[in-house]
Amino acid sequence: MNRISFNFRDTTTVITGGSSGIGLASAELIAKSGGDVIVSASRVPSKTIIALEKIRAASLESGRQGALIEALPYEADDEVSVQEFFQKVKAFGKRVDFLIHSPGISPDTPYSEQDAKLWNKVLSVNTTGTHLAAKYMRGIMREQEIVDEVRGKIVLITSTNGVDSYGIFSAAYDASKAATNNMVRNFGEDFHKEDDIVINGLAPGWINTELNNTLPPEEREKEMAKIWSRRFAETNEMAVNAAALLTLPYVSGRVHMADGGYRS
Ligand SMILES: NC(=O)c1ccc[n+]([C@@H]2O[C@H](COP(=O)([O-])OP(=O)(O)OC[C@H]3O[C@@H](n4cnc5c(N)ncnc54)[C@H](OP(=O)(O)O)[C@@H]3O)[C@@H](O)[C@H]2O)c1
Repeated sequence: MNRISFNFRDTTTVITGGSSGIGLASAELIAKSGGDVIVSASRVPSKTIIALEKIRAASLESGRQGALIEALPYEADDEVSVQEFFQKVKAFGKRVDFLIHSPGISPDTPYSEQDAKLWNKVLSVNTTGTHLAAKYMRGIMREQEIVDEVRGKIVLITSTNGVDSYGIFSAAYDASKAATNNMVRNFGEDFHKEDDIVINGLAPGWINTELNNTLPPEEREKEMAKIWSRRFAETNEMAVNAAALLTLPYVSGRVHMADGGYRS
């Protein structure tokens, strides 16, 4: 892993959900690779402070001084909040080369005990949230000049659960992620053909993050047996996948599965 490097100099990347997990690891990698980074703030202020410290430290490792590293408030499924976030992003006056959209929630309540409010919240954050981020990012990117054949590139973090569900426990999550996998294809064609904006999806398998903190040990063991790599991935490995998708030429509207090899 340490031998892999990217060059994000002279680029700006927006990372929603960038204050923890896969989003934060991606922010650190891109900052370490010389890029400017704007993340969404965590709703837990202390998490944002720690995240900014980590991203700034990573940026200094690149040898750059004074990179743009900022966090802005964000509520993924609230259209006003998303709109305000992207207005503030625009106000920095920088070309936004890349967006990684990472926010996601997974309920830890058994399916049969989930009420409509919880079910809808999962769909709202994971699916409607993806729609809103893509929509408001597009509004900025479509006004930018074409560089290397694109006005901007977007990676939507989806999930292998959208293709290969691991159980009824996660039905709402799986449904929400199947939707976002489809949105990659649907939005991908529209954004690319109409506005020269490229969208791809990154579908992680099992990753060691807060999202899985409450996964019952027996579920963890059952899932581990299906993974050919015999382990959950680390967030920095997903960051490499996200950075690769942002830099790969001639790939558009595709969902890239990063699951370590998996069969249910
Ligand atoms: N971990 C896995 O095994 C795995 C596998 C496949 C796919 N994924 C997907 O990868 C993405 C990142 O997950 P992760 O594992 O990195 O999770 P994480 O560590 O829990 O991070 C999720 C991030 O999303 C933000 N977020 C959640 N709900 C939000 C909301 N309503 N408004 C604004 N921000 C919100 C969180 O912010 P706060 O700090 O404010 O809560 C946090 O920054 C998700 O889309 C997830 O579904 C994860």
